[in-house]
Amino acid sequence: MDQLEMKKQAAQAALQFVKPDMIVGVGSGSTVNCFIDALGSMADQIKGAVAASKASEELLCKQGIEVFSANDVSSLDIYVDGADEINPQKMMIKGGGAALTREKIVASLAKNFICIVDSSKQVDVLGSTFPLPVEVIPMARSQVARKLVALGGSPEWRENVITDNGNVILDVHNFNILNPVEMEKELNNVAGVVTNGIFALNAANTVIIGTPDGAKIIK
Ligand code: A5P
Repeated sequence: MDQLEMKKQAAQAALQFVKPDMIVGVGSGSTVNCFIDALGSMADQIKGAVAASKASEELLCKQGIEVFSANDVSSLDIYVDGADEINPQKMMIKGGGAALTREKIVASLAKNFICIVDSSKQVDVLGSTFPLPVEVIPMARSQVARKLVALGGSPEWRENVITDNGNVILDVHNFNILNPVEMEKELNNVAGVVTNGIFALNAANTVIIGTPDGAKIIK
């Protein structure tokens, strides 16, 4: 079974968590795009969605789903998003699509953070297969890069990418993230960093993994 089929399986299985009249938190990326396609079948049953990127917002609108601002809601029952890596503690690296800041904001509104991935995203140690994205205020790019080198990483500027918030992304290679909570806090404290792609302080509550043997749900 190919990777796209496994993403579709995970996305389809996430529909069982969507209940009538909900406002659904929706992340971004190719797995979430599969979820948005599937959510279209429930468009007339749900109240709407809060989207973590402009791209997801457009796709939701195409499915006839009303999109609310994060400022319009005080909490969400569920937030559904993908990940670039996920460890056994349900902590993740995210931001491959540069939407990490809005993803962290919308995820923090949710009672149940549901991570949908194909099995290739499972790792024991975060940072082992995917560089860590860090969103940075443009004027601070060089000084943040130097700080990341001092912390043992090898940052690479994702040129030609500007985030939905007008910032730039540094992808940090060679970080062996053995203590994700501490590393997330430490990077948050670097002046000029808007968000880092470690999602450990607010890890997922539910993980749905698309595998060749079907979708597996871990609560
Ligand atoms: C977007 O910024 C990311 O956090 C995505 O959730 C992550 O990159 C997973 O993307 P795919 O579902 O495309 O693999």
